[in-house]
Amino acid sequence: MKSIVVANWKMNPATFREAKKLFEAERKAAEKARGASVIIAPPAIFLRELSKMYRGSKVAFGVQNAHFEAGGAHTGEISLTQAKDARAKYVIVGHAERRAEGETDDDARKKVASALSLKMTPILCVGESSRTDDGEQFEVVREQLRAGLADVAASSPSRVLLVYEPLWTIGKATAMAPREMHQMAIFIRKCVVESHGEAGLRHAGAGSGLAQAGRNMKILYGGSVDEKNASAMLRDGDVHGFLVGRASVDSKAFAALLQSLEHA
Ligand code: PGA
Repeated sequence: MKSIVVANWKMNPATFREAKKLFEAERKAAEKARGASVIIAPPAIFLRELSKMYRGSKVAFGVQNAHFEAGGAHTGEISLTQAKDARAKYVIVGHAERRAEGETDDDARKKVASALSLKMTPILCVGESSRTDDGEQFEVVREQLRAGLADVAASSPSRVLLVYEPLWTIGKATAMAPREMHQMAIFIRKCVVESHGEAGLRHAGAGSGLAQAGRNMKILYGGSVDEKNASAMLRDGDVHGFLVGRASVDSKAFAALLQSLEHA
């Protein structure tokens, strides 16, 4: 199965000229990478121009955030409908940096539901902000999943991409250990099967049972992913791919990351 790599450019680069250059380089790298599907989430202001330039199918576009309302008095916001009109198919919801700025679980719930109703794919991020020894992260993640997926029909949880991206692993020198991610992936699947049942996670033709149902839920890892740690995470972390920050705004690092996944 192809891995999924989401390039979260965050508030970079500074100019459209640079964005175009970065996009061109990443598009080329994505076209070479047979093992990965690439989703690029540039700053919204660059989205339409970039998507206009590209007619291929190897790269899909996303936005880093959007408002759940279709329109109205929301100064400074963009709507999911507007994002879709600029060819975004994906929307990142509940990123740790946005949660830190005040995005709530309830916002995440509304954004996930609106995105699905527009036939876009929400990329719902969950994760604790700091790690303690008492296993508190599991409760945090359970609650974020419960709230974020509350309006998702029992038939549809596999239409949401889930990202485990604890704040304490973002922007660091190393990623989390694959073994720890593996444990969290099992927990996430268990939570979703508990809240939504198995049926919506079972695809036609797939086997039956809890393990198979959980497997159809796509879970990504985010936090300091690069070409040095990604393949081990893909092998041993029980993930389908990655949400990438810094390594996605450096075209060489991004190409090396995609390359590393070819042999994972
Ligand atoms: P990072 O950011 O890869 O720079 O750690 C990840 C993210 O926040 O999406």
